[in-house]
Amino acid sequence: MKQFKRTTVTSALPYANGPVHIGHLAGVYVPADIYVRYLRLKGEDVLFIGGSDEHGVPITIKARKEGVTPQDIVDRYHNIIKKSFEEFGISFDVYSRTTSAIHHQFASDFFRKLYDKGEFVEKTSEQYYDEEAGQFLADRYITGECPHCHAEGAYGDQCEKCGTSLSPLDLINPKSTITGSKPVLRKTKHWYLPLDKHEEWLRKWILEDHKEWKTNVYGQCKSWLDMGLQPRAVSRDLDWGIPVPVEGAEGKVLYVWFDAPIGYISNTKELLPDSWEKWWKDPETRLVHFIGKDNIVFHCIVFPAMLKAEGSYILPDNVPANEFLNLEGDKISTSRNWAVWLHEYLEDFPGKQDVLRYVLTANAPETKDNDFTWKDFQARNNNELVAVYGNFVNRALVLTQKYFGGKVPACGELTAYDRETLREFADVKADVERYLDVFRFRDAQKEAMNLARIGNKYLADTEPWKIAKTDMERVATILHLSLQIVANLAIAFEPFLPFSSEKLRTMLNMPGFRWNDLGKIDLLSAGHQLGTPALLFDKIDDSAVEAQVQKLLATKKANEIRSYKPSAVKADVTFDDFCKMDIRVATVLECTKVPKADKLLQFRLDDGMGGRTILSGIAQSYPHPEELVGMQVLYVANFPTRRLKGIDSEGMILSAEDADGRLVLVQPSRPVSNGVNVG
Ligand code: 2FM
Ligand code: ZN
Repeated sequence: MKQFKRTTVTSALPYANGPVHIGHLAGVYVPADIYVRYLRLKGEDVLFIGGSDEHGVPITIKARKEGVTPQDIVDRYHNIIKKSFEEFGISFDVYSRTTSAIHHQFASDFFRKLYDKGEFVEKTSEQYYDEEAGQFLADRYITGECPHCHAEGAYGDQCEKCGTSLSPLDLINPKSTITGSKPVLRKTKHWYLPLDKHEEWLRKWILEDHKEWKTNVYGQCKSWLDMGLQPRAVSRDLDWGIPVPVEGAEGKVLYVWFDAPIGYISNTKELLPDSWEKWWKDPETRLVHFIGKDNIVFHCIVFPAMLKAEGSYILPDNVPANEFLNLEGDKISTSRNWAVWLHEYLEDFPGKQDVLRYVLTANAPETKDNDFTWKDFQARNNNELVAVYGNFVNRALVLTQKYFGGKVPACGELTAYDRETLREFADVKADVERYLDVFRFRDAQKEAMNLARIGNKYLADTEPWKIAKTDMERVATILHLSLQIVANLAIAFEPFLPFSSEKLRTMLNMPGFRWNDLGKIDLLSAGHQLGTPALLFDKIDDSAVEAQVQKLLATKKANEIRSYKPSAVKADVTFDDFCKMDIRVATVLECTKVPKADKLLQFRLDDGMGGRTILSGIAQSYPHPEELVGMQVLYVANFPTRRLKGIDSEGMILSAEDADGRLVLVQPSRPVSNGVNVG
């Protein structure tokens, strides 16, 4: 394997049009951060680059909807995203943004260099133009009827109803979403990166030289390459972005996917104006991109082709892309608010960053899409972090405090069992490294947790608290060894759970960590004074998790209501028809379930006319019918009496059927006299 002098690590620049959620963290930022912390701890030269992706059409759409400028949008979300990353300990060396002046200049120069070298082809094509707005329309600014499922409101790039990818020209009756007018076709010129010309070297570079890439990444690249690469437009007709630096390109900007990856380089330059080049141009630098699966083609094919075309850059050595994380069985979605937002998580679980980091890594979508559930979150916290790691650390520290005043006791003679335990944990460094080196963070974290299990078992088996009265020397040895394991845990977990390791470092009163100390049993010498013990983790109770589940259910409900499509309006009725209905108000006097009928409730109503009984099929929507007593309802008084389950029902009570099928009683907005007419 090639030896490198340093590593440049990038993580996808998130779009600054919304906050970040657990899917972002699990797929990209936690794995990247684990990797970087691991390399730093090993003493390697590493740079971790992040930033916000602030161009592209969705940002302009959001701005238009809110009546603000795109700059307002990106200013708002860049700050929220940056703060979330800081709060979760994502240890970027730089977190900048693609609206920075330095990035604009850098990306513009990059384009110009490729242009001057003749690396682009120019093509003129016909695209939709809004004559009223005086602008070309991005795909998302055009809607129309889907040619496949005939749903209205399909976008120029995709029908959200049937999921088909579309081109704006496919839409039936296209409409501009800006003015509502019918767009016309106009000729426009753009610059294309001729990926077809890069295909040959890309094939060899990926398919032959990088067989070690993750199978999901390699597989996706292979299928793109097997389909044959096509030229890709790198400019757009849009008023938000980096102007194309070519004469005659007024009104055109660089395509967001052209400028965004260049952001990795310009952000490096912003941080290190004098030495950025060695991080991007020295063949002894290893470049690693952390991304989600939807970004694979851009990082494995398009960006490398751009770098190669420029000529002076290194190419990525690895692109460990992850699959997607779902939430409680459903795809995470910003527009449907189906997500756990990082800033909201911290409001509900303050100080529990490491718990989320742990759970997301334990369940990371490394080889396939995975599901996050609140039950699993609770179980992993309570059964693993609290019951294994936290419990072991706490017992070792509290017992040392109790028997030795918080000073590391001396190690006496080792028993066969001590030696067996030490043998088990001697491999921890190699075990964790084996997985970290190939981006298998779930397995690496499992190995670290295994060390805590070894320690926990050792204390449970040796039970020093039982021999404290008779054999203090043995207690000293047990705690001496236990504390060495605790110190090892602090190091092993630092890349994964940095906040807890820092807490533990203070409790152990250690100056700092070095990865190479992992596996050693002399990290804390006899007589070393420990700090004050405190709990590393605490239990998450059912009510906290239930509250999160309820929050999601409320979101689901709101989405159902929002997406409810009312049925078509029925055929006309005359005023006379309407007047035939005798709708009145009554108050519920009694309400009970009808025996042997799942759906029926029996109402006794004060109708202002001596009272009446009505049966209504709403029992499943009202599990506590007694709570309806005293409420006013509307009912049809001249509905013919029907006999149901041996009871006469004298009318019909009005209810609305909600989007989820629940029936909701209709009532007057203010109390009125019983018996009054409705109409
Ligand atoms: O998919 C996304 O969220 C993009 N904003 C990622 C860009 S990565 C890089 F190229 F900047
Ligand atoms: Zn469709």
